[in-house]
Amino acid sequence: MEITFLARQQLDQATALSQAENWPHRLEDWQMLMTLSQGRAVLRGGAMIATALRTDYGPDVSLLNMIIVRQSERSQGIGYKLMSSLMDEVRGRELRLVATGAGIRLYKKVGFQSEGKIFQCQGEIASVGLPDDQIRPATPGDTHAIIELDSRFLAADRSALVQWLVKHARLAVVRGAEGELCGYAAVRRFGKGHVIGPIQANSERQAQNLIRYFAVSLAGQFVRIDTDEGLGLMPWLEDFGLKCVDTVTRMRKNSQTNPRPVFGLCSQALG
Ligand SMILES: CC(C)(COP(=O)(O)OP(=O)(O)OC[C@H]1O[C@@H](n2cnc3c(N)ncnc32)[C@H](O)[C@@H]1OP(=O)(O)O)[C@@H](O)C(=O)NCCC(=O)NCCS
Repeated sequence: MEITFLARQQLDQATALSQAENWPHRLEDWQMLMTLSQGRAVLRGGAMIATALRTDYGPDVSLLNMIIVRQSERSQGIGYKLMSSLMDEVRGRELRLVATGAGIRLYKKVGFQSEGKIFQCQGEIASVGLPDDQIRPATPGDTHAIIELDSRFLAADRSALVQWLVKHARLAVVRGAEGELCGYAAVRRFGKGHVIGPIQANSERQAQNLIRYFAVSLAGQFVRIDTDEGLGLMPWLEDFGLKCVDTVTRMRKNSQTNPRPVFGLCSQALG
């Protein structure tokens, strides 16, 4: 068994590993993650049996994600070794992750603490009416303000991710009376359909309007939104077809920042 760097040409094997867990990631979704992350793979006899990624958000915060050990190889310490090797590389940084039920014991063992729940809501989205706020498509001139708002809400520098979204996703913004940016959201292809996220907003109403804005063009299609339990969007999402199909746990280690809970994650991997 050897731990190696995960190379782009190995992503088809990584996709097969995640699909064996019934995770929805397509090859394109792994490719997106790899443009923003560093990866490790565990190989046995040349075959990939485990993966783990680390995504750095600025100099102080890293996310750990896509931690998967093939079913037949579990309970032998492989997940623990992978986590330890990733954590050794980033000593001193705050570490964040979103844990599945399967992962939570391992993460607690290596020092992560639970902070809250995320509801995974998905389904065929029904038409939810037109937004009643001043929602409009983002323009290239909005990018700097989006990065600033996202970094402030998340207490981490996600400029590389926002720049990726500007190139590959649709973004919308909501502005206040003085023209200041109050929130933004993005929609992109992911897994079985589309994800609306990140959704960053100052209020539930603004978040709902950002969702309405995208829902108009996605009505009848498969849409996913991962939303923080504490923000109260979930019952409203269920009303128009996005049912809660799983609950996962936000965890942190070596906490040094004060991020806000978010109305919509970019993904469970990317927060
Ligand atoms: C979560 C997952 C990655 C764990 O992988 P794994 O290789 O089975 O985990 P390990 O064998 O390293 O850990 C198993 C146990 O041994 C412990 N362990 C292993 N080596 C250890 C060591 N050197 N010191 C202390 N504890 C150790 C682990 O903490 C864990 O404890 P537990 O028995 O109380 O649960 C695996 O179950 C998986 O891929 N699940 C499906 C995908 C998924 O949900 N991933 C999590 C995404 S957030």
